[in-house]
Amino acid sequence: MVFGMTGSGKTGLCIDLLEEAIDEGIPIVAVDPKGDVANLALIFGELTSDKFLPWISREEAEVKGKTPEAYAEEVAERWRKGLEEWGIGEERLRRLREKSFLRIFTPGSTAGELVNIITGFENPPSDFSSDPELAIEKIKNSVSALLSLLGMDTDPIKSSPHILLSSIIEYFWRQGKTIALEDLILSIQHPPIKKLGVFDVDSIMSKKERMEFALAVNNLVASPNFRLWREGFPLDGSKLYKKTEQGKIPVSIFYIAHLSDSERMFFVSLLFNEVLAFIRTQPGSSQLKYLLYMDEIYGYLPAYPLNPPSKNPLLLLLKQARAFGLGVVLVT
Ligand SMILES: Nc1ncnc2c1ncn2[C@@H]1O[C@H](COP(=O)(O)OP(=O)(O)O)[C@@H](O)[C@H]1O
Ligand SMILES: [Mg+2]
Repeated sequence: MVFGMTGSGKTGLCIDLLEEAIDEGIPIVAVDPKGDVANLALIFGELTSDKFLPWISREEAEVKGKTPEAYAEEVAERWRKGLEEWGIGEERLRRLREKSFLRIFTPGSTAGELVNIITGFENPPSDFSSDPELAIEKIKNSVSALLSLLGMDTDPIKSSPHILLSSIIEYFWRQGKTIALEDLILSIQHPPIKKLGVFDVDSIMSKKERMEFALAVNNLVASPNFRLWREGFPLDGSKLYKKTEQGKIPVSIFYIAHLSDSERMFFVSLLFNEVLAFIRTQPGSSQLKYLLYMDEIYGYLPAYPLNPPSKNPLLLLLKQARAFGLGVVLVT
C-alpha cells in the first residue's frame, strides 16, 4: 500500500516501481483513474529534446519565458543528469522499452484500445467442474457489477434479481454452455430453472418484476454506448498476463477517467474479478510473477458497512493472490 497526500509523489514512486518490475520480467495490469499512470509509456530510448518536446507543458515554458524547444532541452538535460546520478544510462532505458509491450486501454471508448468486457459474462470457465467454487464466485461478482451499473441492489444474498441472474448463468455454465447476453435477457423473462432454493421462481420474482428487470438489462445492452463494451481485447486475465510471442512483458494500462462513476465501478469490479479468476488457475508460487496496480483506490475498497462490487474480489485478491505469485499494489 502506498499512502500519501495529494502531490506527495505516490504516482511518481509507483511509476519507478512498475519500471523495475518490467525490468524483472513481471507482467503488469494497471488501473489508471486519473491518467498519469499512462506516463509509463514515456520511456525514451534517447533523452534528447525532440523526444521531450511533444510532452512538455507549453504553459510552463511560457511562464519561464522560454521557447518550447529551449524548455524541452532543459527538461531533457534534467532527466539525463538525474538518471546518470543513479547510474541509469540510455542503454538501460532502451532495454526497458524493447522488453515491454505496453498498451493503453480505454474501456467504452476508442481513444485508446477497446476492451471487450462481455466475454467473461458469456463464456463459462473451461474448468467449471474442477473448481465450481471459483466459477460461482466469478458469477456472483460479475452479477453484482452489472446490477450496480443498473443502479440496483447488488447484495448476492438479499437481492432477488441477483439470485435469479446468478442462477441462470450458473445453469448454463454448469452445462459448459456459452450464454449470449441476448439469451440471458430472454432467460430472465422465461427462466430455464423453475425453482430458486425451495421456492418457485415466480414467488421470488413475479412475472411482472422479471419483465421490468429484463427491460432494464435490455435497455443497457441496446444503448449505443454499450456496443463499445463488446468489442476489442477480451478482458481475460490469462490473456492480459501472457507474454507476447516475442517474449515481451505485457503492461496493460486501463485508463478510466472518461467513465462515469457507476461505469468505473462496473469496469474495475469486472477487471478484479477476471484477475482473481486467472490467478486461481495458477500453481502456487513463492515468487512474484504478476502485478496488479491501482492508483487512487479511494472508493473501491471502503470500510464496513459499504460494500461496492469491487470490494469482494479485491479482498479476495489481497487474501489469496500472493500465494499464486500475484502482487497487489494499491495507492491512496
Ligand atoms: N521523488 C520526487 N522528487 C521530486 N519531485 C517529485 C518526486 N516524486 C514526484 N515528484 C513530482 O511531484 C509532483 C506530484 O507527484 P505525484 O507522483 O503525481 O503525486 P501523487 O500521486 O502523490 O499525487 C509531480 O509533478 C512529480 O513530478
Ligand atoms: Mg497520483
